[in-house]
Amino acid sequence: MKSNIILMGPPGAGKGTLAKRLVAKYHIPHISTGDMFREAIKAGTELGQLAKDYMARGDLVPDNVTIGIVEARLAQDDCSHGYLLDGFPRTLAQAEALEKLTAKLNRPVNLVINLTADEAILVKRISGRRVCKNCGTPYHVVNVPPKVEGICDHCGGPLMQRPDDNEASLKTRLAHYYSDTKPLLSFYEAKGYVTSIDGMQPADAVLALAGQAVEVK
Ligand code: AP5
Ligand code: MG
Ligand code: ZN
Repeated sequence: MKSNIILMGPPGAGKGTLAKRLVAKYHIPHISTGDMFREAIKAGTELGQLAKDYMARGDLVPDNVTIGIVEARLAQDDCSHGYLLDGFPRTLAQAEALEKLTAKLNRPVNLVINLTADEAILVKRISGRRVCKNCGTPYHVVNVPPKVEGICDHCGGPLMQRPDDNEASLKTRLAHYYSDTKPLLSFYEAKGYVTSIDGMQPADAVLALAGQAVEVK
């Protein structure tokens, strides 16, 4: 099984949706830098104060900060049998730091799942997205509605819209994806790690294909 995983793809491709399902199936920790920043903002910590304005604009949080939180998280014991990175690395500096760190920890990345989707779909998904205020589970008003409107299926928490899910921030997030993050794919392709999946398929089909990539010997 390939369980040291990076999940890549543009905003709205379905990374969080797939991640929640994969970690439930394979019992590995879900390390989402976006979720970690949102939790820090909610808790009012120094990290949250720092990240808040970058996120609201759709800009990337500075590398030294982002790398620092991932270093601390990946070194924890629960990552010894696998991990799923969602939204990290996003820059060359982050990818280089991850290489060094995972080598040092003897937890090298062995799979990169690349979710793809057309921009028109990304815009529709982001505008219809609602997320649980407590646990961060993503829903969609049309595609992935909760059982009870406005309430999270998993924890009963209230659903809300993310502050960065507006047209201006999405434009900036997409621009960062194309200029900073997408180029990293060739680095991982050269290592033979990348499995690309059409993220415009139904979520069950995406999960099935991702599961095949994880379970390949
Ligand atoms: P982050 O939280 O990572 O946001 P993102 O990359 O913009 O991606 P999203 O979470 O918007 O989309 P997703 O791919 O997870 O889609 P989802 O599953 O929700 O980052 C936010 C910010 O934090 C960044 O802008 C930056 O400021 C900062 N940050 C984070 N990491 C950083 C880093 N490494 N370095 C620097 N800064 C960093 O799905 C979207 C919608 O589609 C949902 O409504 C869902 O229900 C629906 N959907 C999902 N899959 C399907 C499907 N198959 N069919 C139909 N609908 C679907
Ligand atoms: Mg996400
Ligand atoms: Zn919830």
